[in-house]
Amino acid sequence: MTRIDKKPPHSGDGGRTASVTVRGLVKHYGETKALDGVDLDVHEGTVMGVLGPNGAGKTTLVRCLSTLITPDSGTAFVAGYDVAKQPRQLRRVIGLTGQYAAVDEKLSGRENLYMIGRLLDLSRKESRSRADALLERFSLTDAATRPAKTYSGGMRRRLDLAASMIGSPAVLYLDEPTTGLDPRTRNEVWSEVKRMVGDGVTVLLTTQYMEEAEQLADELTVIDRGKVIAGGAIDDLKAKVGGRTLRIRPADPLELRPLAAALDDMGLTGLATSTVDAEAGAVLVPILSDEQLTAVVGAVTARGITIGSIATELPSLDEVFLSITGQKASAPQDDTRTSELEGAAV
Ligand SMILES: Nc1ncnc2c1ncn2[C@@H]1O[C@H](COP(=O)(O)OP(=O)(O)OP(=O)(O)O)[C@@H](O)[C@H]1O
Ligand SMILES: [Mg+2]
Repeated sequence: MTRIDKKPPHSGDGGRTASVTVRGLVKHYGETKALDGVDLDVHEGTVMGVLGPNGAGKTTLVRCLSTLITPDSGTAFVAGYDVAKQPRQLRRVIGLTGQYAAVDEKLSGRENLYMIGRLLDLSRKESRSRADALLERFSLTDAATRPAKTYSGGMRRRLDLAASMIGSPAVLYLDEPTTGLDPRTRNEVWSEVKRMVGDGVTVLLTTQYMEEAEQLADELTVIDRGKVIAGGAIDDLKAKVGGRTLRIRPADPLELRPLAAALDDMGLTGLATSTVDAEAGAVLVPILSDEQLTAVVGAVTARGITIGSIATELPSLDEVFLSITGQKASAPQDDTRTSELEGAAV
């Protein structure tokens, strides 16, 4: 999908329009086109969710935008700086939490953060106070002096996030920040990300979890095989995919099953089978048009079933993803991937 931006794509001098502007980005690895002409705009102070199945090109995009790799063609500007021509300036305004943990295992949490502060040219004093403030903020003060190798997966991820915040970045890249985390830790990370966004940070977040996208992203870009295949606000995407779900509650709860059965053998063109939400006392059935809605209501009433309430719902983001990519979104799972060195703060 190509969006036409009426505003100039970048100012080139550090001024702001969109915080991240990508046009026609291409990156090959041998025969593999990891990025095949990607266009993307992330507006200042918003969260852009980049969704895509394994191998879609998400990490490659993040690496190009962090100056870790050089694209073959196309342009990318971050906070007004050109990825190709102003890598040093650009690195000063970004933070990166890579897909794989990047902290030094032998060093303690505090030492890791202090070292990054020094690498970013902060004074000793500044590095120390920044490290302590971030340890506090990410609830790691108690573990501050322990080597990072003794940290749990969630603690490491929080340390990674803290590391990416040392330089007070204006733009933060989070590459699958919660893959492999348990639900409670995932929620903690989400709260931290929301807090950073509240502080005005612009975020580009890659994820395979639809719930994460729903929780954090203002807009989505779906990529597959290096190409952007859909994009926009979550509700717009849902509406574009089409189809709504009809939630019908019979006036008499005893009529729940007869209602479901009636819907299923109505034989309405294209009407999918219904599901019963016993707890809510409602039957759910996907519909494709307003005509189907009218037909369903008519047919149910004709069977003598009184409708208590009826509502339409947009499809879930999982359904949207399935419809766009033809693949199911990943279910959260433990991360068994091996660690790979990737700059925690650039
Ligand atoms: N260093 C590399 N050398 C060769 N091929 C690579 C390299 N990095 C990525 N690729 C290939 O480029 C494509 C995009 O990979 P990328 O890591 O960007 O995908 P991804 O969307 O991040 O996937 P995942 O969800 O698994 O992290 C894949 O086909 C991958 O095999
Ligand atoms: Mg990746």
